[in-house]
Amino acid sequence: MTATAHSPAPVLCGLGTWLPPHVVTNEDLSRELDTSDEWIRSRTGIGRRHVVQPGEATSDLAVEAGRRALKSAGLDTVDMVIVATTTPDRQCPATAPLVASRLGLGTVPAFDVGAVCTGFLYALATAAGFLAAGTARTVLVVGADTYSTILDPADRSARAIFGDGAGAVVVRAGRADEPGAFGPVELASDGSGCDLIMVPSGGSRDPFRAATAQQADPFFRMQGKKVFRSAVERMAQSSLTVAERFGWSVDDIDLLVAHQANIRIMHGVADSVGLPRSRCHVHLDRVGNTAAASIPLALADAVESGRLTPGARVLTTAFGGGLTWGAAALRWPDISPA
Ligand code: ACO
Repeated sequence: MTATAHSPAPVLCGLGTWLPPHVVTNEDLSRELDTSDEWIRSRTGIGRRHVVQPGEATSDLAVEAGRRALKSAGLDTVDMVIVATTTPDRQCPATAPLVASRLGLGTVPAFDVGAVCTGFLYALATAAGFLAAGTARTVLVVGADTYSTILDPADRSARAIFGDGAGAVVVRAGRADEPGAFGPVELASDGSGCDLIMVPSGGSRDPFRAATAQQADPFFRMQGKKVFRSAVERMAQSSLTVAERFGWSVDDIDLLVAHQANIRIMHGVADSVGLPRSRCHVHLDRVGNTAAASIPLALADAVESGRLTPGARVLTTAFGGGLTWGAAALRWPDISPA
C-alpha cells in the first residue's frame, strides 16, 4: 500500500534539552594532557564541552531533558518512555524506568535502546513502531549520555571530542501531511566493525573477575581514523536514501543536522551529498560529541539560533559504535524547545 498525505505517521511535537552546568574548555584539557586548543579546534571543531560532576548521572540529565520535552509538547503524561544511552546509570537495570518514575509518569512501559551514537535515531524508529501498532499514542524519546564517566583520563583523543548531555522529544500518532511527521527512519548496522568502538571489559565477553582484574580495560576505546572514513560514507548514503524516500532533491534540504562527532566528518557528509557546507548545522563547537544526545541537542540549538523554522526541511543522520548508522527527515513543526 502506498503512503498518502493522510496516512498515519509519527509526529514530533515536543523538544527539551539539558546540559550539566560544569564546562571543560580546550585550555582546561591542555593543562592536564599533551594537547592544545589549536589541535582540538583544527582537527575536530570543538571548543568546549559540558561534563558531569561526581554525583551526577545519565538519568539526572535525562529527567531534566524529558521534563522540558513534556513541557514543550504541552503534556504532563505519555504512554511510553524510551531512553537511548550507552552510559546507563548502572549496567543493570535499564535507566528508562527510573526516568519515567522520576518524571511522575507512573507505571508506563520504559526501556533503554543501545545503539551508541545512533541511539537516538534507533529509539525514534522504535517509538514510531509502537505508534504505528497502536500500542502507544505518545512516546517520550530521550537521548542521554555521560561519556566522561567511561573515558580513560589519559586518552587525549577521546577526551577532546566527548561531552555529556541529554536531549528529548515527544512523538505522537499523527498524519503524514502534518509538520513534524517523520519516518520511515533509515537504519543500518555492520557488526563486523564492532571492535572499532568499544568498552573492552565489564561485559560478558570479558567480565570483571578478581583473578583477571589487572588485565581488564573498563574504558571506552575508538579507532578514530577508521571510524572517520566509515562515518562519512555511511551518513552520506543514509541521508541520500531518506531524501529520495521523501521525494526531496538535495537542493530541497534546508538544514542537515548530522551527528556532532567532528566538524570534518560533518563537512565530509555535506560534500558527499552535494549540499553546501553552510547548510550543515554546527553545535559541537560548544558541546562536543554528546553521543545519543547529539541530534536532539543540535536540533534545539538550530531552533534557538533561528536556523530551523517551522516548515523547514531538515535531514538528520547519525553514525556510531556497533557499527550503526541511520537517517530521518521531516518538515520542522511549530514547536519551541524548552
Ligand atoms: N591533541 C594532540 N594530539 C592528538 C590528540 C589531541 N587531543 N588526539 C590525538 N592526537 C595525536 C595522536 O596521538 C596522533 O599522534 P601520532 O601521529 O604521533 O601517533 C595524531 O594526533 C593523529 O591521531 P589520529 O587519531 O590519527 O587523529 P585524527 O586526526 O584521526 O583525529 C579523532 C582523532 C578526532 C578522534 C578523529 O579520528 C575522529 O573524529 N574520528 C571519528 C569519531 C567518530 O565519528 N566516532 C563515531 C561516533 S562516536 C561513538 O559512536 C561513541
